[in-house]
Amino acid sequence: MKPLLAANWKMNLLRSEAEALAAEVGQHVVEYGDINFDVLVCPSFIHIAAINEILAGSPVALGAQNVNQNGFGAHTGEVNSEMLKQSGCSYVIVGHSERRANHSETDELTRLKAESIISIGMTAIVCLGETLAEREEKKTLQCISKQLSGSLPSQFNGQNLVIAYEPVWAIGSGLTPNLSQIEEVHSEIRSQLNKYSNDANDVRILYGGSVNPANSKTILSVKNVDGGLIGGASLNFNDFWTICLSVL
Ligand code: PGA
Repeated sequence: MKPLLAANWKMNLLRSEAEALAAEVGQHVVEYGDINFDVLVCPSFIHIAAINEILAGSPVALGAQNVNQNGFGAHTGEVNSEMLKQSGCSYVIVGHSERRANHSETDELTRLKAESIISIGMTAIVCLGETLAEREEKKTLQCISKQLSGSLPSQFNGQNLVIAYEPVWAIGSGLTPNLSQIEEVHSEIRSQLNKYSNDANDVRILYGGSVNPANSKTILSVKNVDGGLIGGASLNFNDFWTICLSVL
């Protein structure tokens, strides 16, 4: 499976900074030639159109960090899937733990968002992850299974769905699970996906949470880890590119 390296820029970077970072990523991907991994950048909504122009003709994909599940209508301050698609997005992150925790987003809402993304031909990146309390109470697999069954879109395959396992306690903390803990969760996600669909073998399962240039090679080589969702380290070109090259 071709690994996916996805940059989640969160609510960072002014437009000129975002454009410069996207240009650098785009240029390196082109210069590198026939790379055997996919690269995705997810800027904030406000920079998407500008980054789409910067990445025109580039193999680097563009994504958003959130979407409203509804079609056009009276939803002040919201952005829908069709708008994102027209602005050049092919991926949208949904159910990120920061959305779940800070905006009360549920599994059900995550599923509706994923379905709206898939219905118009984009790919949903559905995020899952346990809290520290859940891990300490040995409820990690139970939590992941519940989030997965509640958040999965009704029709999915390797083209329209990516899963990102991101332990809440690992995000932005510098902490990561050990390799066998990562392997255990990814293998559970893989077997659950196979239960829900006959077409799930090539759904990529990313690991996210404090991936950096020092740990990426080992984490990204764990079985059933098909790439990474990178937050903080994706804001620095050299760090992000080192992480990308570590899958080779
Ligand atoms: P981090 O964030 O790499 O800064 O831990 C990952 C994420 O939240 O997607």
